[in-house]
Amino acid sequence: MALPASVRVVEVGPRDGLQNEPGDIIPTETKVSLVHQLADAGLSHIEAASFVSPKWVPQMGDAAAVMAGINKQPGVFYAALTPNLRGAESAIETGKVDEMAVFTAASEAFTHKNINCTIAESLERFTPIMELAQQHGIRVRGYVSTVVGCPYAGDIHPLQVAAVARELIDRGCYEVSLGDTIGVGTPHRVKAMLEAVSKEVPMEKLAAHFHDTYGQALANLYAVVEEGLAVIDSSVAGLGGCPYANGASGNVATEDVVYMLHGLGIETGIDLAKLVNTSHWITDQLGRGNGSKVALAMGCGDN
Ligand code: HMG
Ligand code: MG
Repeated sequence: MALPASVRVVEVGPRDGLQNEPGDIIPTETKVSLVHQLADAGLSHIEAASFVSPKWVPQMGDAAAVMAGINKQPGVFYAALTPNLRGAESAIETGKVDEMAVFTAASEAFTHKNINCTIAESLERFTPIMELAQQHGIRVRGYVSTVVGCPYAGDIHPLQVAAVARELIDRGCYEVSLGDTIGVGTPHRVKAMLEAVSKEVPMEKLAAHFHDTYGQALANLYAVVEEGLAVIDSSVAGLGGCPYANGASGNVATEDVVYMLHGLGIETGIDLAKLVNTSHWITDQLGRGNGSKVALAMGCGDN
């Protein structure tokens, strides 16, 4: 299949990237500045916050303040994670959220650890969120985690993923993002998973959300883009990981994805040099190493 002419990159750094950051709570201004810089670099879809329980994920406890601090740019979608009706109500109250994201998994064990319920219960929880979203004209994205492997249950069968993805679409999600939460996939396995899912959900409603724990994310992304998938989630500087998936490292780095896509002649609308500056800035703020090979290779333009 021909490669797509363009790919929509969904930046999840401010949420997936920062939710698992150890140490002190990152200042709200740093989070807001990160979102502003990402929009300035041309990211048109930014997951900015997460309205989950601060007892479960302390780094996301200032979600409302983060949203309040954002100066929204035209043409940019600002998204927030909402695990339950309470989270959705809080997100909508900010008046700033363009999109909510609900999340479940293909593994019962992971769903229990992450959101303390069964897969079926999680889907039921989403019904009032969908209704609220519809009343407010806000679209809802769905996540399926552990689409290849689960840290608690091992290998996941592609048909399990397909069934949950289909449920999310049937319940009103406009798009489903397929999460290789612990980055265990390899190209043929993710292709087999995508083949099963795309029999239930059209390819244009699917996104890839690959963590890079085993260094396979770019290879896996190339494999699924070749199959016609054209929405990729990634995290600036490769920040992140899921606090309820032992050993999960960050998402694939946005800089590395953009470099690969541009090299393939695929448009993203992203200014790589600006993005790399943001990458160095945020890793300086966090006092951590940079997970992007491209950012390391390009150095910091400000120096
Ligand atoms: P629970 O303990 O079953 O529910 O948690 P609860 O209703 O008993 O609530 C527990 C406490 O949290 C209560 O406070 C609630 O009031 C409060 P207390 O009475 O003890 O003082 N609470 C809330 N506070 C603020 N906002 C809310 C909210 N809801 C309850 N919305 C719950 C259930 C879903 C809340 C919890 O399990 C939770 O927050 N889990 C989130 C875990 C999480 O954020 N994981 C990371 C995101 S998912 C991910 O990273 C994967 C992804 O990237 C894709 C991939 O990589 O595969 C998306
Ligand atoms: Mg993730």
